[in-house]
Amino acid sequence: MKTVRLAMIGFGNVGQGFAQLLVGEGNRLRQQYGLDFKIVAVSDRTKGSLHRTSGLEPQALLDAVRQAGDFSALSEDTTAWDALQTIQNAPCEAVLELSDTNLQTGEPALTHIALALRLGRHVVTANKGPAALRYPELARLAHTHGCQLGVEGAVMSGTPAIHLGLDLLRAAVIRRVEGILNGTSNFILTQMEAGLEYAAALRQAQELGYAEADPSGDVEGYDAAAKLAILSAVLFGETLPLEKIQRQGITALSQADLASAARRSERWKLVASLERRGETLQAQVAPVSLPLSHPLAGVSGATNALVYTTDLLGPVTLIGPGAGRLETAYALLTDLLAIFSAGSA
Ligand code: HSE
Repeated sequence: MKTVRLAMIGFGNVGQGFAQLLVGEGNRLRQQYGLDFKIVAVSDRTKGSLHRTSGLEPQALLDAVRQAGDFSALSEDTTAWDALQTIQNAPCEAVLELSDTNLQTGEPALTHIALALRLGRHVVTANKGPAALRYPELARLAHTHGCQLGVEGAVMSGTPAIHLGLDLLRAAVIRRVEGILNGTSNFILTQMEAGLEYAAALRQAQELGYAEADPSGDVEGYDAAAKLAILSAVLFGETLPLEKIQRQGITALSQADLASAARRSERWKLVASLERRGETLQAQVAPVSLPLSHPLAGVSGATNALVYTTDLLGPVTLIGPGAGRLETAYALLTDLLAIFSAGSA
């Protein structure tokens, strides 16, 4: 049995989802992979910081947060470490970076990730800021320090968009990427088609943990644009500044627009696309009224879809959950398994 010690930076939706996965799947992972994942430290900006070398009980973390909204019930494991001190001091093989996404600066996640990699710790993150803004540089840093950086959860939550494009399609050249990459806006459009008001649909998306802390990023297309930037950086090695991505969200769409599309046998979707044209990459996010026969038209709720158009295989389509706490936590687990189950760590 190999013990993999983890430090978690951030214990919000996704962090709690990860703890829940360890509670439910820990035994299976030990049996199936011989891997015992132990959370040895957690640091959350508002809930507090904890450290226990022998491992914190994931269920105790969840109970504490459910009861008091913070870690005050776990006082014997409390430490004064902030996020950077946690990364520095916690004896761990991997850091789970789960602080809030910031698409302007990537901070504070960028600093957390760079520090962890410099210390030779693997990093797994669902944070879109650093992946969209600085992935190639961070991947080089990881390589230099003999460790790995997993960002699967940053695009389509647990649906393996990154592994499909980067690993499974490595024998082909991806020419075009097109998809529905924001679960919140797709969920809102679906609920509005069913008769719900925009504000109520957005509230539901927030309650279900789909929306960002600031949901304007979802409904105005910034989140989908960031995911295009991540795909560009990870798959093509090219950083795509967010301001170079033409972007329009769903906020101008009314129930009347959706109803009139339905009368034309069409459906509005927020479509993100990325295509290589000569030397340049063209990227855009925009609402498009698709005929019902279009493969993306049938994708509803928080589900995402992605079509990789390749030279050797033509289009390859992936459809699956695009948001949610367990779904995103699942992505962290797939990255951890990719790092630790192959004997590469
Ligand atoms: N807010 C994002 C979405 C979460 O709705 O798709 C997953 O990245």
